Amino acid sequence: MSTPHIAAEKGEIAERILLPGDPLRAKFIAEHFLDGAKEYTHVRNILGYTGTYKGVPVSVQGTGMGIPSISIYVHELIHTYGCKKLFRVGTCGGMHPDVKLRDILIAQAASTDSSLVRNIFGGTINFCPIADFTLLEKAVANTRRLQLKATIGNIISVDRFYDEDIDNDKLRKYGILGVEMEAAALYTLAAEAHVQALALFTVSDHLLTGESCTAEERQTSFNDMIRIALETAIE
Ligand code: HPA
Repeated sequence: MSTPHIAAEKGEIAERILLPGDPLRAKFIAEHFLDGAKEYTHVRNILGYTGTYKGVPVSVQGTGMGIPSISIYVHELIHTYGCKKLFRVGTCGGMHPDVKLRDILIAQAASTDSSLVRNIFGGTINFCPIADFTLLEKAVANTRRLQLKATIGNIISVDRFYDEDIDNDKLRKYGILGVEMEAAALYTLAAEAHVQALALFTVSDHLLTGESCTAEERQTSFNDMIRIALETAIE
């Protein structure tokens, strides 16, 4: 059995899954954090692996970039493969002075300019895509236990990476901390299916200062974020 985008048998994908956008990040996580990881799919070079973390089965699967792409993978993972705890692990652009390069952000909510929410609810309701509270609470506790720091709040999932028209000053004024391109879809599809989801990020570039991380700096904070996600996934 497989779906149009994932070539795995039922049972090959764990209920707990990490979702980086970049398939090579999925490979990196599988090789550096999971025990006995085995590739279960490489359709379109979007890689997926299952292994164990501290003895608990965990999968990791690339999603590609943007809301249409992650929506495909999340739908198939939930509805065909029975995934129940889904963690987006990615990078975001810092939007706010409270957020610095390399910080870890956890999205309590994901605002969006995408048509995804509008397509589901119509024109009058602005559904608010939010994190699963239990996962959020556990992730915050694990961050402290690991003696790391994370900033928690609202982010925005945008449809355009290159967007001259978006009003970043207004978003900042309303406390939006970071910008990325997938979390609102994950939270909305998880809400629809009554499963748990959480999105964690490292700040790879900053829209206020124009700074961006070196590849090496990116890796260190990325590894800390993965540790928080995995510790939360297995509880
Ligand atoms: N914009 C959108 N998505 C992103 C960014 C950004 O600046 N950085 C990382 N993901």
